[in-house]
Amino acid sequence: MDKIDTQEMSNRPIGVFDSGVGGLTVVRALERILPREEVIYFGDTARVPYGIKSAPTIRRFSIENARFLARFKIKLLIVACNSSSAFALSELRKRFDFPVLGVINPTVEKAVRLARKKIGIIATPATIRSGVYQDSIQRAGRREKRQIEVFAQECPLFVPLVEEGWLEGKISRQIAQRYLNKLKNRIEVLILGCTHYPLLKKVIRKVIGEKVILIDSATEPARAARDILRKEGLLSSSHKGKTIFYVSDFPERFKEIGRRFLNKDIEEVRCIRLE
Ligand code: DGL
Repeated sequence: MDKIDTQEMSNRPIGVFDSGVGGLTVVRALERILPREEVIYFGDTARVPYGIKSAPTIRRFSIENARFLARFKIKLLIVACNSSSAFALSELRKRFDFPVLGVINPTVEKAVRLARKKIGIIATPATIRSGVYQDSIQRAGRREKRQIEVFAQECPLFVPLVEEGWLEGKISRQIAQRYLNKLKNRIEVLILGCTHYPLLKKVIRKVIGEKVILIDSATEPARAARDILRKEGLLSSSHKGKTIFYVSDFPERFKEIGRRFLNKDIEEVRCIRLE
């Protein structure tokens, strides 16, 4: 690629998709770690949740989302949904010529760096059943010649709790207790393997205790995106980044819930129909 091409490429946007609002935790991390980048976000609000759907359906939705973002000539795609990352990454990499980054591997790398031998993973039923986190942790452990024990727990009610804004209080705590009691006193690190879960951090922390290290699946992927772009010489040289939001349904609700994720107002959300 000559110099002009590289400059043109580096000012292209990063595409990010999730089943709905959860991927906004990744956007928030991107705004902090890569403040000069333009981000095009797509939330598939017409079809959320993904985490209780089958692998072929999640794969099909993910391909359609990526096809939509490809229209913007993106330089990198971040799959900001663990359920899609679990089932669709290799298919997306086959079909598109931009780099595709999932949220699972960068998160696992960090967890394995911080834990000695016991890691808990909580996620949607689809992500847990895929076994991708469990395999990836074991693989990373073997690479470091360590036997790591993985404790996996699906938490299907966490996504609706976050969507409803029930981030604290008795009911949320009781649900968290029901899911997390089995992990209590058994793990050193807990991976929040769903991009919605960072909003429940307070409740999760209360239930799991102070000693366990919590790792979300938003921060490490944003760092990994920075590393990829830096390595390829594709970091944006423009002065100010921005995020443009698209959804497949009900932009008003996205705006309302999205505020909680980004901790600021979202001015404009465009609604599109996927072909
Ligand atoms: N945010 C998605 C994830 O990280 C889950 C939400 C859903 O079930 O659609 O897995």
